[in-house]
Amino acid sequence: MRKSFPAEDLARDSRFRRARTEDRFEDPRNQYLPAGRRAGKLTPERPDAAHAARQMMHGIFVGEIQALEGAGRTVWDFDDEEAPFALKLDMARQCWDEARHTEISVKLGEWMGTEVGEFAETAFLYQAACNPDPVLRLTGVNRALEGLAIDVFNTMREFGQACGDPVLDFCEDWMLADEVTHVKMGSDWLRRLTEQDPERRERALEFQRVVDKLFSFRGFRGETDESPIQLARQFRRMAGFADAEIDTIAADARADSEQEGWKAPVG
Ligand SMILES: [Fe+2]
Ligand SMILES: [Fe+2]
Repeated sequence: MRKSFPAEDLARDSRFRRARTEDRFEDPRNQYLPAGRRAGKLTPERPDAAHAARQMMHGIFVGEIQALEGAGRTVWDFDDEEAPFALKLDMARQCWDEARHTEISVKLGEWMGTEVGEFAETAFLYQAACNPDPVLRLTGVNRALEGLAIDVFNTMREFGQACGDPVLDFCEDWMLADEVTHVKMGSDWLRRLTEQDPERRERALEFQRVVDKLFSFRGFRGETDESPIQLARQFRRMAGFADAEIDTIAADARADSEQEGWKAPVG
């Protein structure tokens, strides 16, 4: 089996529609309104709440498939020198979790009134999992993107509670618990693998910051009522994020949200 499998060759059936990440970012339909007239926090009061929640759920669904594919690649792409066997065992456990999340997500999507392929799929998560350095995969995927998943799941969980939807609330809570574990794996292995190599740690954290900034979406993820996705400080702490790191993500998101013409990540 070949190593470093390209995103273009991932197996998908005819229901799926692939979009390029850069096209998604440039699509004028994904441009949000200027400051003061933004979509705002995901609450049942938002007139487009049902559509926005379904769109987000579809984004979660394709993210789960790619998280499964990315963790699977990390088990296979490296020898035991490059990635210790215990790290691969953690990634194998993650594959099992992501497979379960994929099944939960497709059923939850149906429950919410969407179906596979209603929205396009971009491959940014899997692309971050193609980094040739396993430590950068861990910071780009397990810490940055699964950290974002913590924020998304917590936001959706609270949305489910506010809607009085016990199915959405329960499913999101269940998956959130697993994502905290996945992010913690990223935090622990980053620390272990770079203990003697501060430069590699720095490079990995820089990669994480680039991914994090990209997915703060000019305020799409943040701490104010204007942000549809709320930064989940408590769960990030449980996943091995230091308060200073969370403060940096919040500050980057704030600085980015002050720019005009911010964009949504999915849709
Ligand atoms: Fe997941
Ligand atoms: Fe995960």
